[in-house]
Amino acid sequence: MSILITGGAGYLGSHCCVSFLESGHEVVVFDNFSNSNPESLKRIEAITGKQPKFEHGDIRDQAALETALKRHDCEGVIHFAGLKVVGESLQDPLSYYDNNVIGTHRLLKALSTVGVHKLIFSSSANVYGEPRALPVTEDHSLNPGNPYGRTKLVVEDMLRDLSASDSRWRIGILRYFNPVGAHHSGLIGEDPLDVPNNLMPYFAQVATGRREHLSVFGNDYPTPDGTGMRDYIHVVDLVQGHLHAYEKLAELASPENCFCVNLGTGHGHSVLELVQAFERGANRPIPYQIVGRRAGDVAESYADTQKAKAFLSWSAERNLEDMCSDTWNWVRKNPLGYEPDANAED
Ligand code: NAD
Ligand code: WQD
Repeated sequence: MSILITGGAGYLGSHCCVSFLESGHEVVVFDNFSNSNPESLKRIEAITGKQPKFEHGDIRDQAALETALKRHDCEGVIHFAGLKVVGESLQDPLSYYDNNVIGTHRLLKALSTVGVHKLIFSSSANVYGEPRALPVTEDHSLNPGNPYGRTKLVVEDMLRDLSASDSRWRIGILRYFNPVGAHHSGLIGEDPLDVPNNLMPYFAQVATGRREHLSVFGNDYPTPDGTGMRDYIHVVDLVQGHLHAYEKLAELASPENCFCVNLGTGHGHSVLELVQAFERGANRPIPYQIVGRRAGDVAESYADTQKAKAFLSWSAERNLEDMCSDTWNWVRKNPLGYEPDANAED
């Protein structure tokens, strides 16, 4: 039997494919390449020696999902597919509700129709909004400050309602903090199709000379060096958390057939700490300028990791140096991302 990985060609999904293939699972990637490149699938094969099965499709297409689930005899789904840029969601909320909410609804309908009831969902720490207390526990209030986060919360609520309505469902909701880094091979990593919105991919492009300098969004936050602090988690640790979560689904029993767990390290690091760590990892300076705060940013956020440790028997192992050196290894080898002809041989 196989596991369907929606969005499996993307940043997190491609790393998840590697971990699941290496642990002996059969995987089927379901992706429309709206924010990814087919080359990532070849790289997954180069790392694992196994070719992931692939279905080109959109999660809003219920019939295509049903066909894929039946054709590959799927037993469960890891659901990454969706749109993820906070700023874009403010400009174009309907696309976010369409892809993230309607897309997930179609996926759940398809799963119900074919009789598959196991699902892991990619949620985000964004659903907490401005933290009222640190570290952020799973029972923190939910108050996302933007349409992207609200689509994640709507889907979470849909999943909780669904699992309460039908005891056959086994659902895991994972709230990611700030995933960064890349596979140590340097074959897969984050490949933004446009100007990066997030800190680490921006760094990476400054390090390769593709961008002149980093703009640090504010140094007047109530943090030790004044810059924003986040819980950065290595992507390989994050996807290992998915393996633990997927295995946990088999142990669940109604009425506790839906769980929600933070995936983070439990430690906050500032923007300037990241600058220093990246400079050490890449052995080159990262020029930066302090500019004003970015609207909507919070001063500090990091996860409470007790539930992940106790319930999933999982915790992150990689540190900030690993995150920076693996990111550097990826961009050094692929300065223009997955475009195969664009990169010089290493
Ligand atoms: P990504 O954009 O790299 O990957 C998403 C993949 O889904 C892409 O391959 C894209 O082509 C595909 N996709 C998008 N819409 C689709 C659709 N309608 N039908 C089929 N395929 C579609 O993003 P990522 O960083 O890998 O994030 C994966 C998931 O994790 C997303 O749901 C995101 O919201 C969530 N998440 C990401 C982060 C982060 O910082 N990367 C943090 C928290 C949560
Ligand atoms: C991190 C820190 C910025 C860029 C976002 C989403 C969240 C989740 C993860 C999906 C902040 C600072 C950034 C730059 C900077 N994604 N920064 N210069 O905002 O914590 O979280 O990604 O679910 O939902 O909101 O991550 O990487 O954008 O920012 O100074 O060019 O870096 O101000 O302090 P964020 P980020």
